[in-house]
Amino acid sequence: MNALKENTGYEGWLRFSKLTNANLEAEYRTFFKRLVMSEESEILGTAKEELVKGIQAILDTSLECSDQAGQASNIILATQNTKIDLVTTLVGDHSSQLNEEGYILKTDKETHSVLVYGKTDKGVLYGVFHLLRLVQTEVSLVDIEIVENPKNQLRMLNHWDNMDGSIERGYAGKSIFFEDNRFVEDFSRIKDYARLLASIGINGTTINNVNVHEVETNLITEEFLPDVARVADIFRAYGIKLFLSVNYASTIQLGGLGTADPLDENVRHWWKEKAKEIYSYIPDFGGVVVKADSEHRPGPFTYGRNHADGSNMLAEALEPFDGIVLWRCFVYNCLQDWRDRSIDRARAAYDHFKPLDGQFKDNVLLQIKNGPMDFQVREGVSPLFGAMPSTNQILEFQITQEYTGQQRHLCYLIPQWKEILDFETYAKGEGSPVKSVVDGSMYEYKYSGITAVVNVGNDMNWTGHTLAQANLYGYGRLIWNPDLSTEEITNEWVKATFGVDPQVVETVTEMLLKSWSIYEKYTSPLGVGWMVNPNHHYGPNVDGYEYDRWGTYHFADLQGIGVDRTVATGTGYTGQYFPENTSFYESIETCPDELLLFFHHVPYTHQLKSGVSVIQHIYNTHFEGVEEAEELKNRWLALEGKVDDVRFRHVLARQEEQAEHSKEWRDIINTYFYRKSGIADELNRTIY
Ligand code: GCU
Repeated sequence: MNALKENTGYEGWLRFSKLTNANLEAEYRTFFKRLVMSEESEILGTAKEELVKGIQAILDTSLECSDQAGQASNIILATQNTKIDLVTTLVGDHSSQLNEEGYILKTDKETHSVLVYGKTDKGVLYGVFHLLRLVQTEVSLVDIEIVENPKNQLRMLNHWDNMDGSIERGYAGKSIFFEDNRFVEDFSRIKDYARLLASIGINGTTINNVNVHEVETNLITEEFLPDVARVADIFRAYGIKLFLSVNYASTIQLGGLGTADPLDENVRHWWKEKAKEIYSYIPDFGGVVVKADSEHRPGPFTYGRNHADGSNMLAEALEPFDGIVLWRCFVYNCLQDWRDRSIDRARAAYDHFKPLDGQFKDNVLLQIKNGPMDFQVREGVSPLFGAMPSTNQILEFQITQEYTGQQRHLCYLIPQWKEILDFETYAKGEGSPVKSVVDGSMYEYKYSGITAVVNVGNDMNWTGHTLAQANLYGYGRLIWNPDLSTEEITNEWVKATFGVDPQVVETVTEMLLKSWSIYEKYTSPLGVGWMVNPNHHYGPNVDGYEYDRWGTYHFADLQGIGVDRTVATGTGYTGQYFPENTSFYESIETCPDELLLFFHHVPYTHQLKSGVSVIQHIYNTHFEGVEEAEELKNRWLALEGKVDDVRFRHVLARQEEQAEHSKEWRDIINTYFYRKSGIADELNRTIY
């Protein structure tokens, strides 16, 4: 790590600075003398390298390496194949509790040894990062006994990177993989990225956009496969599988077949040959992500076929190599007439996919966005979760902050994601949360897990806003174990990133925990969504959503606002949930305030459960949101001198922008609704 990269945020949460706590330092020194490893593998090599490097930086000590345990002070990296007596004693009967990626961390007081044991080498790598985190966040090792297994099998990321170097919905610079329609020259940054990902347990990633344009279609040809394989090599050493987004119509562009009909023999044959070719370069290639029949992307509909036909055709080609197909459910008609109250985009994914349950091959997973719309600051949870017992499902989050401030505003998304994972679907009665659908346990899916559109680019700090790193970190930790609390995750990140000074920890934690609510307050109210400028989606524009050229999706008129999605009088969307949720949302009495306008059309004078009217709620929250955005900035300002200068100034600039920009949101939204409704603010604050 060169000095230039230090303090820019480049190291992220893997910031191993020299320990200053003398007592702990003395304790750690009793453990960290000899690194014992008696086996070899590429991933074990990575684990060893990370441990040696981390301990060197934290304790200024070089670990001596050996394949034999000494009398005392051993850090042992071991798997089920290791034949060292001390390991067998320490592991005891814990090993049966481990899955393929799980690990045990255990100290032995007698010999002052620490064991990092995985069933496989991947477990050891994850265990090493856990151990480093404990040391970095100043936790005593004297009595450690930890058994960890990831709850989700696939823990993925999706990059929306284009080969010209741009990133769709990217807010942190250019791609770290591509530039000028080819791969970047220097891959060292990709390795640094792989470290960050492995340290939070990510085990798969795509590198290119789901919108696969002409150039990117060529990623699966001999022109680019050697480079794709080089990237896969880097990720492999960190336990991460590489996937690609592919163009459904590749047979037309690359195969010259003139068709992409999934039932056409030549199409099927072409993909089988293509799969063989890809696997000849990358033997452990993960598989493909496909956006089909959505937002002008090609798909099976053109040939009168359905999504099961389309995905199964690809799945058949990948099956001999254990590859999987992640088929996206973000399918809706973007050319719909938004004035027509009988068409509801929120219904689309369920309407398209639910009837196909049971028709997909078992190496197909349906990739479902968390909500039925598009990663809004607040929307309902997709009713597809739990609704397809016989079809593998994977949940898709958006870490990149497309609709949540674009990494110029602070919006910590872990609390939102936790709500979604804990959402009660009632699929099998009470106790059927989304997290048990997507971890595969509810219906015993063969494949399942969580994926997300990532927020990194080649900005020095990876994520544009340094505090937006917390969303990536938190995502990894949360999908490893959805039962971790937001507070635990946040505390880890803040300490690892900024150190253990209590004032810094408290301030940054509070800023993060309040930020989603603050952002929601001054943007789109009560779950109605959007209200952003067309195309780039930054900044307020009540009628601005680009696909709705009539500006009517929220149905705001002189009397009221909101979308009636009830079965009784509206689009019938509420009927897509299991009965308990249908009636919960169907009734205005039970529907929670924060989603009221997502489910119901109400007059501005409608009284919320909070006791205020809808219009007064809009005014109040927009004024409050601006005040709270200002407070965020002031809280940060108080850390001057406590956080290194570069990161301090950088975050301050973003908080200043947020505080300023929130006023624009307040004024545009309040003015719009004041003019529509003609109802004055009860507190007579200035509304133009
Ligand atoms: C959103 C986003 C697009 C993206 C799409 C998708 O609509 O604005 O940029 O392509 O989601 O998820 O496919």
